[in-house]
Amino acid sequence: MKVTIVGAGAVGASCAEYIAIKNFASEVVLIDIKEGYAEGKAMDLMQTASLNGFDTKVSGCTNDYTKTAGSDVAVITSGIPRKPGMTREELIGINAGIVKTVTQNILDHSPNAIFIVVSNPMDTMAYLTHKSLGLDRNRILGMGGALDSARFKYRLAEALECPASDVNGIVIGGHSDTGMIPLSRLAVRNSIPVSKFLSEEKIDKVVEATKVGGATLTKLLGTSAWYAPGAAVSSIVQSIACDQNKMFPCSALLEGEYGLNDISIGVPCIIGKNGIEKIVELELTDAEKAKLQTSAAAVKKTNGLLDV
Ligand code: 2OP
Repeated sequence: MKVTIVGAGAVGASCAEYIAIKNFASEVVLIDIKEGYAEGKAMDLMQTASLNGFDTKVSGCTNDYTKTAGSDVAVITSGIPRKPGMTREELIGINAGIVKTVTQNILDHSPNAIFIVVSNPMDTMAYLTHKSLGLDRNRILGMGGALDSARFKYRLAEALECPASDVNGIVIGGHSDTGMIPLSRLAVRNSIPVSKFLSEEKIDKVVEATKVGGATLTKLLGTSAWYAPGAAVSSIVQSIACDQNKMFPCSALLEGEYGLNDISIGVPCIIGKNGIEKIVELELTDAEKAKLQTSAAAVKKTNGLLDV
């Protein structure tokens, strides 16, 4: 399994690190436009191989797509991250052109690659990739929901005062501060609904903290986060590489599911060797359906700014 990560910034490098440490891929190629940067990150990572006990070969290159040839999976992190006070949507002007170019470059050298889009605004960048590459829809997915769900579990565990491994929960909808829909109705601690342990007010606080999870970190760090995004991507890549058929909410191109069409937005997906093996359609309440419609309308508005 060969994985290319486009963009050797914090998210791309963190993703490479988690993939290497999990030791399921034979090769990871980091590619960046900044001269020597991806080479440096790759060398630094490779010097941890004997310490961390992995065999994955991580290499770096500057804008040389021939080195990415034959990749099974391509992770697109390129573009600029948001700064404090910015929304993800504000990045569209710069990132759309970059994402369009790099995804085409990848496809030219790796005709069978599965694309995982991380660049923001993520749902719109995933949609753009669908529109510009025209591949089967299972081969392009956006990673936001997996990250947002991890943040939801973090906040649930914090409120429940228990380990995150004790809780489960998913976030659907757009990967934006207002578009995320943490499905608290379905969140559980060891199979028991969290409403058994938390008041409605506490659950509402968890939901709100989840939705601004990325913005909170951007404010603290001065740029957007990388550990959880990198870990979320690496889990999706692993599910593809090892054909695990794990379920993650991912941004998927919908063709009628959830009553939506011509949009890429976060819904639960089974992820295996073909990318999205199946989109899982949940029975939503009327209130949840209304939230998803509102979230989808916002994503479509951002998609409308694209030149596709
Ligand atoms: C975040 O939420 C990178 O959009 C990503 O941290």
